[in-house]
Amino acid sequence: MDIMVLNGDGIGPEIMDAGTKILKKLNDNFGVNINPVKYDIGARSLDQGKYKIENILEEARKYRAILKAPMGDPKLRNTGGTEIALDLILALRFDLDLYANVRPVRLLPGVSSPLIGYKSRDSINYTIIRENSEGLYSSHFGGLVLRDEVAIDNQTITRKGTERIAKFAFDLALKTGGDPKNGERSVVCTDKSNVLKSFAFFRKIFSEVSLEYKQIKPRYMYADAMAQYMILNPEELNVIVTENMFGDVLSDLGASTVGGLGFAYSANVSDSMGMFEPVHGSAPDIAGRNIANPTAMIMSTAMMLDWLGYPEYRKTIEKALFKTIEIGVKTADMGGNASTSFFTENVLNNMDQ
Ligand code: IPM
Ligand code: MN
Repeated sequence: MDIMVLNGDGIGPEIMDAGTKILKKLNDNFGVNINPVKYDIGARSLDQGKYKIENILEEARKYRAILKAPMGDPKLRNTGGTEIALDLILALRFDLDLYANVRPVRLLPGVSSPLIGYKSRDSINYTIIRENSEGLYSSHFGGLVLRDEVAIDNQTITRKGTERIAKFAFDLALKTGGDPKNGERSVVCTDKSNVLKSFAFFRKIFSEVSLEYKQIKPRYMYADAMAQYMILNPEELNVIVTENMFGDVLSDLGASTVGGLGFAYSANVSDSMGMFEPVHGSAPDIAGRNIANPTAMIMSTAMMLDWLGYPEYRKTIEKALFKTIEIGVKTADMGGNASTSFFTENVLNNMDQ
């Protein structure tokens, strides 16, 4: 099966190397037939006119899965002031209707959390489901600036969009073992329904959907309170479902509790297509130095395999990755001095055992 690989900018190509080498290893060792088709797509290639967003979307529609490296260059902007690569990332999510952005927050073995009292593997282990097709960010390109005096962006919440994301979150909770503290399976609807009608509507629809899932506990929290809860009681979280921008902000907060953005991996899925990517950016400051942590890219690759119907290879990758970190092979962000390529080689070797 062919998958589309977007190489990105900055550290993108360096960490994507880890993703594609892992796929090759799986092909060699287990005969998994996945063929990465590489595209040099990112802010630079868009800026040079090598690709147009419409053509990329057309090409992307030929695939079931996309593996995407971080892309972006703060210097390359549109006339409206927004970053050129971000337009592509958001187009991929919106135009391909990849409505569920799945962002696990999981403390991996051998990684330390800055939160006191959370030491062992999976003592923090929950998933943020970020609604990816509406919310405030669906105003992208649609905002208005009047007479250089007033700026307006609108938030959109629909019944259909909220129903499908709520169902997605409950279905995911059904497959988990619950929260680390009590093994309780729950979904927390996270909103600001105390302030905005659109969020009160989101909460109402969520609560309707919850009636179809008797085995899962529905919970409710305001987004500001959730920011605090994620720091004080992360062991009581299982699945969070939230609006697009809240999900963006809260997932970075979550990442910081489990070792940083180097450990933040994600899936953007519809019912027929998936795009898998690290949550972090292209880190132009460290690009080309072979020091970036490829964990988020590796875990995104593992998520892709799981979603494609190979959960066993997700386990193979995780086992090799966890072993690498546990024996002390660590990149600079983890306090070690392993290079990106040395770290990757270790993961690949551990896949042989
Ligand atoms: C993310 C990023 C994106 C977002 C940007 C790159 C468009 O921050 O994936 O979290 O805002 O969603
Ligand atoms: Mn973000």
